[in-house]
Amino acid sequence: MSQARIVVLVSGNGSNLQALLDAAASGELGGDVVAVVSNRPGAYGLERAERAGVPAVAVAPEQDEPRRAYDARLAEVVAGFSPDLIVLAGWMRILTMGFLGRYPDKVVNLHPALPGELPGVRAIERAWDERARGERDVSGVMVHLVPDEGVDSGPVLATATIDMTAFTTLDDFERHVHHVEHRLLVEAVGTLCRQSTSTTEVSP
Ligand code: GRF
Repeated sequence: MSQARIVVLVSGNGSNLQALLDAAASGELGGDVVAVVSNRPGAYGLERAERAGVPAVAVAPEQDEPRRAYDARLAEVVAGFSPDLIVLAGWMRILTMGFLGRYPDKVVNLHPALPGELPGVRAIERAWDERARGERDVSGVMVHLVPDEGVDSGPVLATATIDMTAFTTLDDFERHVHHVEHRLLVEAVGTLCRQSTSTTEVSP
């Protein structure tokens, strides 16, 4: 049976990428990570890919390069790996329709908050600040499709709720959020992999 081909886009550490690489290697994912692409040449995620024997490609924006031009270049690089799925795992750039329009229903993002909450960067810290102000007791993690340029929004594939009252420090809370992210991302991407291969197989 052919496995789903996954391209992972990262900008930094890549602990979620690592969860996908490990799950792919153990067979749990039901898909292959065929390439890792980063907008930051120094991203640790690229090193993780190399260590796993997966092609690692840096596509750095040029000075003053318009977003659309960059996204067209990025789309070409990604297309070279014929992906069934593209996973944004700590990808810190908004993608324009020039990229997303080429991959309808194939781009998946991970956000360390519940649907509709805390879009943008530093969501974990902002949730913690809100908790300190008595404004929330619960946060979570979501995996969703990326149909358009909306930030951390789109059809939800999976969520996990986290009771914040169980944590006394931001560090502990953050560690737990990442742990939950790793599990949820593997589950959600695994489900998509199985769907994408069964769709491929029934096609004439
Ligand atoms: C994760 O919290 C993810 O939800 C957010 O950026 C972080 C990336 O972490 N979008 P890592 O690079 O996977 O370790």
